[in-house]
Amino acid sequence: MNDLHEPFLNRDADFSPYRDMAFDLSAMARKDMAVNGDKVINATIGSFFGEDGKILTFKTVYDSFDRVPAGDKARYASDILGNPDFREEIFNWINRKNNISLPHTVIAAPGGTGALYLMFASCLEKGQTLLIPDIFWGSYNLMAKKENLRLDHYTLIDENNEVTIEGIKRKSAELMERQGKVLVLINDPCHNPTGITLGKEKWQQLISFFNELSEKGPVIVVNDVAYLDFGYDIENVTDYMSCFNDISDNVLIAIAYSCSKSFTSYGVRLGADILLSRNQETLNHLEAALKRTCRSCWSNVNNGFMHCFVDVMKNHREEYIREKNEAVRLLQKRSQLIMDEARSCGLPLYPYSEGFFITIHIEDHDLLNRYHNALIANHIYTVRFRKGVRIAVCGLPLSKCRGLALMMNQIYQEVIND
Ligand SMILES: Cc1ncc(COP(=O)(O)O)c(C=O)c1O
Repeated sequence: MNDLHEPFLNRDADFSPYRDMAFDLSAMARKDMAVNGDKVINATIGSFFGEDGKILTFKTVYDSFDRVPAGDKARYASDILGNPDFREEIFNWINRKNNISLPHTVIAAPGGTGALYLMFASCLEKGQTLLIPDIFWGSYNLMAKKENLRLDHYTLIDENNEVTIEGIKRKSAELMERQGKVLVLINDPCHNPTGITLGKEKWQQLISFFNELSEKGPVIVVNDVAYLDFGYDIENVTDYMSCFNDISDNVLIAIAYSCSKSFTSYGVRLGADILLSRNQETLNHLEAALKRTCRSCWSNVNNGFMHCFVDVMKNHREEYIREKNEAVRLLQKRSQLIMDEARSCGLPLYPYSEGFFITIHIEDHDLLNRYHNALIANHIYTVRFRKGVRIAVCGLPLSKCRGLALMMNQIYQEVIND
């Protein structure tokens, strides 16, 4: 909250200038590119770009979208919760392995952002604490502030730079002691910004831990799966979800899905919450409460794109999957190049598994700032996070990935030795 008061705004409004690092740095990179051309590396924005340097758009998706009649694009959705066939197809897509057997409901939202906001705004009291990773997508922080929530953080790595769930467990247990209720955000698979994926075994352990914890109070697990469809083990990316079937009565799962990356539709604004609970009545209550938030905040979601999603899933699924998988394989090639080089020169990375982003791990704040600035001075644009510098591999053609880690390591060594 501001010390100053702007009489036209309410007291909670934060009117300090808002700067979005990713958008601002990308604009800087574009300016630099106008002068220095190919020398510039823009690794800031989390959208997939093809090898031709243009944003990738799946043909299957946009051909289908073009076929949606203008009237359907113009019309309101048939239901505030989302069109019934869209809700069904989203669930089918998430449950593609038929491995979720719990009562469920789906609530359409404007992107993963909307799906996350619905949960944050609905499940905690003002002043309560939301648990998120210690390196995280910045919008969680904004949403929490907007809803007057506090944040606490868990670590995803141990002292040997190995992925661990001990941080999630410890912080959740502490929060339950303090608050009597836990809402924990787990951005998995393909965590933004580190590329960490927990895997099925760790998820199983987490669910049995949350079950035990839920004897002391309700546990809400919000699983942010924005990058799910860019996991490298393509056939098995949703396998871990079978462990959700084991949740106890006092655990609620919200899978926050985004169409942005999976359907190359960032600007379209479509996503959904898939809510899973043992108890149908709980789902009815959530549906009714969240419906009011939908209606009051954005009314309904993009009707034309819901039609397109249903058409792709029902009539062009195999073509779509082939096209998407090609993009996943390309991302894998790009990240492999960077990872191999980074290993060869010892660039200190978070333990990347898969996904849009690779992040250099730097804890020291001053070093982090100096390094980030030195990269910019060398025409390399990345996004600075709390404990690292993020390379958006999704936006870099292979030619730009080649040599990048070596270059970044050289600059890192120069900054350290400065
Ligand atoms: C971690 C994470 N979650 C959710 C989202 C939501 O994306 P959208 O609102 O475009 O669906 C993003 C987008 O960048 C993200 O990085």
